[in-house]
Amino acid sequence: MTAWPPAGDLVVHADNAAYLPTLPGGSFRMIYIDPPFNTGRSRARQTVTVTRSLDGSGDRRGFRGGSYATLKGDLTSYADAFADYWEFLEPRLLQAWRLLTDDGTFYLHLDYREVHYAKVLLDALFGRECFLNEIIWAYDFGGRSTRRWPAKHDTILVYVKDPARYWFDSAEVDREPYMAPGLVTPEKVARGKLPTDVWWHTIVSPTGKEKTGYPTQKPIGLLRRMVAASSAPGDWVLDFFAGSGTLGAAARTLDRRFVCVDDNPQAIETMRRRFADTATYLTAP
Ligand SMILES: C[S@@+](CC[C@H](N)C(=O)[O-])C[C@H]1O[C@@H](n2cnc3c(N)ncnc32)[C@H](O)[C@@H]1O
Repeated sequence: MTAWPPAGDLVVHADNAAYLPTLPGGSFRMIYIDPPFNTGRSRARQTVTVTRSLDGSGDRRGFRGGSYATLKGDLTSYADAFADYWEFLEPRLLQAWRLLTDDGTFYLHLDYREVHYAKVLLDALFGRECFLNEIIWAYDFGGRSTRRWPAKHDTILVYVKDPARYWFDSAEVDREPYMAPGLVTPEKVARGKLPTDVWWHTIVSPTGKEKTGYPTQKPIGLLRRMVAASSAPGDWVLDFFAGSGTLGAAARTLDRRFVCVDDNPQAIETMRRRFADTATYLTAP
């Protein structure tokens, strides 16, 4: 078991499936993940019984045993590609649920290919009443198909562990300019408006300061918003598909502590450059 809390921010080189069970339950107020879709871990189809070895949580709130297994069976027989993906993701999602504090929030970043399956399954897994938002990250970059509507968005599904007591601090969220400033008071124009669930944000510029060189790096502006709303200064936040460590970088700027896990040595190298000696680096079995 990992000693908790650690002295400071942690970057962990490990397969998250092996590492996450070593962390104590209820340790993170906010968890964000941006998992790869093509995991390359295709395996023989098997009937999975959902076993929930979740320490100490006791009451199974949010988990739907039998009905979840049935739904999962139906969906995965419908789409083989998704079945492999879900076999990979499911044990990690169970860990995310276990690791959240009772007032914690989970952000799952996906694209249009898998998000609809994931929504149905997460409704069953967390409980439909625990679904908080579907955030659309809209960007405008790259080629445009003339054979269909060019796909220029990702989706971030947001679930809370307990809809009656989750942490959400809208006062801490960065505000946006009004689209029609002439229609509101100068005070409102000066203050800006709260973002909705559609976030227009540029991708990480290939030539900008933010760029780390890690191919799937997400913009820090997106992560700052999620961290600001769903955690408080001093809280612990977690990303167990951390890549270049954007969640950690956002946490840094907002005075939160972080744990970033990745199994790719290049991701760890990128985070070493990003955080230098201000984090502790571990290799877990
Ligand atoms: C889409 S990238 C995340 C990018 C990140 N959000 C960023 O802003 O840089 C997904 C990451 O998951 C990592 N990954 C895939 N399977 C993993 C596993 N089993 N354990 C830990 N990390 C894993 C990959 O190495 C990759 O860096």
